[in-house]
Amino acid sequence: MNAAAVVPAAGRGERLGPGAPKALRELGGVPLLVHAVRALARSRAVTLVVVVAPADGVARVRALLDSHGAGGDEGPEVLVVPGGDTRQESVRLGLAALPPEVDVVLVHDAARPLVPVDVVDAVARAVDEGASAVVPAVPLADTVKQVGPAAAPGLPEPVLGTPDRSTLRAVQTPQGFRRDLLLSVHEKALREAVDATDDAGLVERYGGQVVLVPGHEEAFKVTRPLDLVLAEAVLARRRANDEF
Ligand code: C5P
Repeated sequence: MNAAAVVPAAGRGERLGPGAPKALRELGGVPLLVHAVRALARSRAVTLVVVVAPADGVARVRALLDSHGAGGDEGPEVLVVPGGDTRQESVRLGLAALPPEVDVVLVHDAARPLVPVDVVDAVARAVDEGASAVVPAVPLADTVKQVGPAAAPGLPEPVLGTPDRSTLRAVQTPQGFRRDLLLSVHEKALREAVDATDDAGLVERYGGQVVLVPGHEEAFKVTRPLDLVLAEAVLARRRANDEF
C-alpha cells in the first residue's frame, strides 16, 4: 500500500470566532494543522501528506510547518498547495497534487488535530484489506430531530420526525479511499455541480459502498470556541500522562 494523506486546511473557521484561519489557531502553543499533520505522520501507512492551505496563505503555512518540524524533514514528505472556496474544492486540489504511485488516499480535516494514530491505522488497514471507501464513526450522544422550515423568520421550526438513534453514526476523518474511486467521484461532482460535506458522501451518491470502522471521541472536530477548551484539556491530559 502506498498511502498519501490530503489535509484540507483552507477554511476560515468563522464559527470559531474572529481571528486567524482555523487551521492556524493554536492548541497548546501549536497550530491545529501541525497537530493534524503530526497525527498522520505517526502512522507508518502514510508516506506523503498534502496540506491544502488558504489560497493566499501557502507560503505562511509552509513556513509554519517547517518551523514546527512538521515540514517533512523527518517522516513523510509534506507538500503544501493552494485550496478553494469549499472543502470539496480544496480536497480536489489536494488530490491533483498526488504523484502517480499513490493508490490509497486518506482525507483528514486539519480541524481534527487530536485524532489518535490507531484510528488512522484502522482506516488505512481497512482500505488495504479490500474496502474502497472507509469512514471512522462513533455513536451519537444526542437524539437527532429532522426539522422543516419555520413558517416565518423568528418562529420556531416544526419537527418532522425522530430517526432511530441506534441506526445513526457521527462520522469523522481520516476517511480512506482507493485513489481511483475518490478521483472519479470528485470529477463527477465537479461536472454535475454536486457539493457534499464529506468525501464518503460523494461515493455514496454515485453508488459506491462505504463502510465504517470505529472512530474515537478524541477525533472530534474543532468548530466552536468550546471545542478549543475541550481540545486543550485533552492535550493537557496526554502531556501529563506522557510524563509518567
Ligand atoms: O468548515 P468545516 O469545519 O466543515 O471544515 C472542515 C475542514 O475543511 C477544515 O479543516 C477546513 O480548513 C477545510 N476547508 C478547506 N477549504 C474550504 C473550507 C474548509 O480546506 N474552502
